[in-house]
Amino acid sequence: MSTRKFDQAAAGWDGKSRRVEVASKISAAIANLPLHKKINGMEYGCGTGLVGLALAPTLGHLTVIDTSQGMLDVVREKIESQNISNVTAQCCDLLRDNYTQKHDLIFSAMTLHHIKDTQGLLQRFTALLNPGGYLALADLVTEDGSFHGPDAEGIMHHGFDPHKLADLLTDSGMTDIKSEIIHSIDKEENNKEYPVFLLTGRKA
Ligand SMILES: C[S@@+](CC[C@H](N)C(=O)[O-])C[C@H]1O[C@@H](n2cnc3c(N)ncnc32)[C@H](O)[C@@H]1O
Repeated sequence: MSTRKFDQAAAGWDGKSRRVEVASKISAAIANLPLHKKINGMEYGCGTGLVGLALAPTLGHLTVIDTSQGMLDVVREKIESQNISNVTAQCCDLLRDNYTQKHDLIFSAMTLHHIKDTQGLLQRFTALLNPGGYLALADLVTEDGSFHGPDAEGIMHHGFDPHKLADLLTDSGMTDIKSEIIHSIDKEENNKEYPVFLLTGRKA
């Protein structure tokens, strides 16, 4: 999807139970990291905040970032209506904009496959982490292109080999790298399951 399509999809985004389920599996897996109330976190590609707002109560502060104003409008409405005081939403493209805030935790869910320059983005994430900070990335394992089907506008990768991503993380200075399959998305219409990985690492 392009930014324009994400803008259009934002209002109805949470209406798809499959998306809500994937986000809940991802937030539960990230919650296994040693999170605490002094952590200043950032989520990249937050969408409507399904993952970030589930984790926010365990953190000190969370900046949720997206390039879609439509998605950010939905997150801001949730922040306001739920009186959430430790989350701020920001429109930013880390590969284009001058973002310099450092974080103790950066996470991203189902967003990497929309961004062409994976290595560049991983290097930006690493540079924005404080020493000892955690990175957590969840996305599809390499698939045959059927996950998004013919409407592949804005799809830059048909998933990833988590081992290759792990090598890129090592190259960008991360340690303690672990990957696991945390969920499998059942698309009955394709008669297929699409595994989702969580890759975590720590900045030296
Ligand atoms: C599939 S959605 C996932 C949303 C959310 N993380 C979740 O799991 O529900 C991908 C999100 O990434 C955002 N996105 C796409 N390209 C981006 C970029 N270059 N920088 C930041 N966000 C981007 C989209 O606007 C969209 O909100």
